[in-house]
Parts: sequence; structure tokens; C-alpha cells
Amino acid sequence: MLVLGIETSCDECSVAVVENGRKILSNVIATQIETHKPYSGVVPEIASRLHTEWIVGVYKQALVDAGIDQSQLDAVAVTNRPGLVGSLLVGVGFAKSLAATLGIPVIGIDHIRAHLYAPQLESEIAYPYLGLLVSGGHTMIAKVTSFDDFQVLGTTIDDACGEAFDKVAKFYGLGYPGGVIIDKLSKEGDPKAFNFPKPSLHKGNNRYNVSYSGLKNAVTNQIDQFWNREYEKTPANIAASFQRTAVDILLGRLKKAIQDTGLSTVVAGGGVAANSYLRQRLESWPQVEAYYPSLTLCTDNGAMVGGIAYHYLERGDRDGANLSAYSRVKAFRHTYP
Ligand code: KG4
Ligand code: ZN
Repeated sequence: MLVLGIETSCDECSVAVVENGRKILSNVIATQIETHKPYSGVVPEIASRLHTEWIVGVYKQALVDAGIDQSQLDAVAVTNRPGLVGSLLVGVGFAKSLAATLGIPVIGIDHIRAHLYAPQLESEIAYPYLGLLVSGGHTMIAKVTSFDDFQVLGTTIDDACGEAFDKVAKFYGLGYPGGVIIDKLSKEGDPKAFNFPKPSLHKGNNRYNVSYSGLKNAVTNQIDQFWNREYEKTPANIAASFQRTAVDILLGRLKKAIQDTGLSTVVAGGGVAANSYLRQRLESWPQVEAYYPSLTLCTDNGAMVGGIAYHYLERGDRDGANLSAYSRVKAFRHTYP
């Protein structure tokens, strides 16, 4: 089964062709990063506008790269939740028109489930496992029991992990996206130079939750204090210390989840899963088998959408003409024709 996967939930315009849920025939990703850079963050209206301009070209390139004609496609899958609604609507509108023209099914895909599925495109990983989803919009530790089912153990109570990276970098005037820049800058710094606060572990239902606003404020105060002083070495030290603390917060909760569930397989996804320090730390845990997708599959991409869609389509799920886009994950029912 050849499934076209479309991803336009944020600032990546991506279309992929995936065979039988695993084999990536093409995965074209057109990133808008350069356009959003001057604003140090994604501007929703600009994002939707660029998706509208780019999506046809990205689609055509995905067919060329896959070496197929559109008549060979069996279904169209599209991210339809959660994300920036204006951006999602471009993908959803395009997917529905294409599916109607080709006379093939269309299916809406949850962005979070797609990220949690992404590592399956590279290694067949047995369920259940712990999913660590860390991106600019999401921070989640989940028990993943199938491609469709997961139980959220912990989430952020304020900023997402990637958002904290982006905001610290923005405050610093380092550029966008902050995660990549801080990751790189940290390599020149001492991660123990500054001791930033970590939120205390919550009890009961909240024991896996994380919080990043305290850390973000502590780091920006430190930047204020040190700006222009010891300039040569301070930025890298602050970046490295911030990164260490951000990862410590995450891994502290993950360790608890591993102890409590007895699961030792961890599958990371989302943009922050590309972080080299996070990977290094996870790899140093002796009893844990950690999987993370390669860099292009960590950040937003159409392949994870086309990949997971195969499993829904195989069990008979389809969406109808009323498929729409939602900014949040909400109670959602597939319609069956
Ligand atoms: O998954 P993604 O492409 O989009 C969302 O769904 O949010 O993730 C983007 C986020 C941004 O916050 C970016 O700063 C962060 O992932 N990111 C990183 C790294 N690469 C991207 N954060 C830390 N280290 C990295 N190497
Ligand atoms: Zn994402």
C-alpha cells in the first residue's frame, strides 16, 4: 500500500510517500525557518501562507523522489490535529481535494501519535514502551501500547521543553530555532558552571509532570546579570548549564516512569529528541534501550504521517468529506463510509 503523508501543522511543509507503513520512498521537507527567523518564532499567518504557496511543489517533488505516478497512490494521510489551525487547514484541504480527484481514501492523523510512531520507520520496536515526546509544542512521557493507544503519564504544566530552548535563545538574541543553537553553543561551555533550579518532584498523579517556566526565568535573570561581563565564555556556560538542567528535569521524570512501569525501552521523538546532550545521557543509562529517529524524522515530517496511517487504513479506518483541522487534540471519531 502506497500512502501519501502530508504534514503542515507548524512551519514544516512536508510530503512523503511510504510503502506499507515502513518503507520511506520519499520524504520532502521544505522548512520555513529562514522566513520566521527575524521574528524568533513561528508567525502563524506567514506559516499558512507559505504552506499554500509551497504544497503543490512539495507534493510533486515527493512523487518524483519516490519514482511513482500519482495514480499509484492508495490513500492520502494528513496531520489534522494538534497544531496551528491555519497551517493544518492547508494540508487538510489539499489532501481532501487530492483524494477526491484520485478516488482514494483520506485519513486525518494525530501529530502526537505520528511523532511517537516515527522511530518505527527505522527499527521495528515491540510495544509497549515509554514514549518521550519533546518538541516546541509538546512535552510528554507516555506509556505507548500500540500505534494508536498511549497513556499520558506526565506532561508539562507550563512551557514545552523546546519552547524553553527557543525562549532562552530569543532572550539571548541567539536566533531561531533556539534548540539547535543552544545545543551547538553548549559544546563550548561548562554544564556545571551555573546551578539553575529544578522543580521539585510532584506527588501522586503529577509525579511525572515537568515544568520549565522556573528554569527559563532563572536563566534569563542570569543572562541579564552577566550580559557584557566575561562575554567570551559566559554565553556558552549559561547555554550548557541550561541544557543540562532542562535534560535533568526530563530524565528525572523518565527515570521514575521506568522504575514504576518496569518498562526499559524508551522511544524519543519530537525536535528536542535531536538534542545531542539528551542522546548522550540516555545512552549512558545501562539498563535502558533508547531509540530515537534520525534527525529528519525527529522534527516534523510527512513520512511519520504516511507511516502510521497505513495501520489505521489496514484496520478499515477512513475519514469522510467532513474531515477538518483542530488546534488541540480533542475527542475525535473517525467516520466509516
Ligand atoms: O517537532 P518539531 O519540529 O516541531 C514541533 O512540533 O514543535 O520541534 C521543534 C522544536 C523547537 O523548539 C526546536 O528548538 C527544538 O525542537 N529542537 C531542539 C534541537 N533541534 C530542534 N532542541 C534541542 N536541541 C536540538 N538539537
Ligand atoms: Zn512536531
